[in-house]
Amino acid sequence: MNLILLGPPGAGKGTQAAMIVDKYQIPHISTGDIFRKNISEGTALGIKAKEYMDRGELVPNSLVIEIATDRLGEDDCKDGFLLDGFPRTVEQAVALDAYLRETDRKIDYVLDIDVDKELLVERIIGRRVCADCGASFHVTNMPPKEEGVCDRCQGQLKQRNDDNAETANNRIEVYNKQTKPLLDYYDKLGNIVHLDGSKNLNDLFKEIVEVLE
Ligand code: AP5
Ligand code: MG
Repeated sequence: MNLILLGPPGAGKGTQAAMIVDKYQIPHISTGDIFRKNISEGTALGIKAKEYMDRGELVPNSLVIEIATDRLGEDDCKDGFLLDGFPRTVEQAVALDAYLRETDRKIDYVLDIDVDKELLVERIIGRRVCADCGASFHVTNMPPKEEGVCDRCQGQLKQRNDDNAETANNRIEVYNKQTKPLLDYYDKLGNIVHLDGSKNLNDLFKEIVEVLE
């Protein structure tokens, strides 16, 4: 099963992705996570990406497309994959389609998670992520058992660099201008499903499973 998760920042893509890949045993490919890993390792790619990410802007297509398609070329993606946060521009979507055609694959479903702006900002500001295993929490919606400590690995919970009100607002604006046109793009292809992301995360997951089965 080849899937794309689409939706504004803070919509719950990463949260649903973790549940989907656990159930269907497919790799979770988040371009944001790939960049954050490169930033923490201090690679040349990380240094370039950080400039854009800290401002809440998109990393240039020329950098993102190659990274995503290289990852899709790895062996573990042959029987399915879940893309989270890629594509994010029409140019990226066109490049992805061309790449998948060349490798005899196609996207089965685009899952579009939509949430109102106020809720997005609240979710972004309250998010805490484990510095060790990457597990994601929310101070009120999904609090860890012990404040500041990861339930899964006891690592330290941190706030992402771009999870402040100013950058969050810019990310949402960038989404509206540069990523929203993808909804039309996939509507025309007929493989997109629109989901209400304001629901409780387990109810939303149930709905996703119904779509996929
Ligand atoms: P990326 O890492 O992809 O971030 P994003 O799109 O801004 O999305 P988020 O990760 O913030 O939100 P999410 O939808 O995953 O929400 P989550 O599940 O964590 O990208 C970061 C940056 O990298 C971009 O700004 C850009 O610079 C660059 N980049 C990445 N890909 C790129 C590309 N293709 N092209 C160019 N640049 C790219 O949930 C958020 C919070 O809400 C959590 O705390 C969670 O616990 C809580 N929550 C989730 N679901 C629910 C629910 N149903 N009810 C209540 N609370 C919930
Ligand atoms: Mg995410």
